[in-house]
Amino acid sequence: MSKLGVYDVAVRYGKIPALEDVSFTVSEGERLFISGPNGAGKSSLLKAICGAAPTSHGRIEVDGDVLNGRSPEAIARLGLTMVPEGRDIFGTLTVEENLRVGTGIRRDKSAIETDIEEVYENFPMLADRRHANAGALSGGQQQMLAIGRGLMTNPKLMLVDEPSLGLAPNIVDQVYQTLVNLQKDRGLTLIIVEQSSARAARVGGRMLLLRGGNVVGDGDSVKFAESDLLKEAYFGQDTPEGPS
Ligand SMILES: Nc1ncnc2c1ncn2[C@@H]1O[C@H](COP(=O)(O)OP(=O)(O)OP(=O)(O)O)[C@@H](O)[C@H]1O
Ligand SMILES: [Mg+2]
Repeated sequence: MSKLGVYDVAVRYGKIPALEDVSFTVSEGERLFISGPNGAGKSSLLKAICGAAPTSHGRIEVDGDVLNGRSPEAIARLGLTMVPEGRDIFGTLTVEENLRVGTGIRRDKSAIETDIEEVYENFPMLADRRHANAGALSGGQQQMLAIGRGLMTNPKLMLVDEPSLGLAPNIVDQVYQTLVNLQKDRGLTLIIVEQSSARAARVGGRMLLLRGGNVVGDGDSVKFAESDLLKEAYFGQDTPEGPS
């Protein structure tokens, strides 16, 4: 996958507009943070890209393939995976059963076992707990499991919604270290929803700022953390362009 393109995309829930005419592109191997206040449309944007929310307008493309109107399963086959907000871990299933959820869409059944072993190599803690109920894992471990499950579809592009939610700062460090390592090792393209600009700046990468369903900034996360744009996005004044 070389490029994700989002062009004039709108998402509505009935009469409620969640995203309005959002456009941006992401290159292969890039790391893009999406930030903005509650209700800005961050999750809706991720859901629209992976086919979990219908677009009411616009076009989403990966390598020239149009994603609009395709099922989430068909989009996953093109190499996109989503690690959802709240993680969606099945607490009464084991760690390994959670990893197998979703592998039904794969045609290469024999490769599934290899991929499970690879996830365990990336996450030795999950290997140790493979037969434990996922509900018994800590929040940080559940986040690692959600990321591990995302890897099971062999993605080129991973969309991660608020991985730091509810985790202690040192655990958030570990989660980001894992994501950065995966990106390096696999050449993954990463799109991460992260509310903390300080965190995004520390990890490094580009940042797209949303407010009220619109893109109000696009630039280097370090510059965002130093600028007033973020405050303006959160507290109200109009914010044209990106940080200078
Ligand atoms: N399933 C839904 N039905 C109706 N409205 C929805 C639904 N999901 C989101 N919305 C609305 O769409 C808008 C954007 O929501 P979205 O969840 O995308 O924002 P967000 O930036 O991810 O917020 P948060 O930081 O709280 O996760 C909000 O006004 C929200 O109330
Ligand atoms: Mg959200």
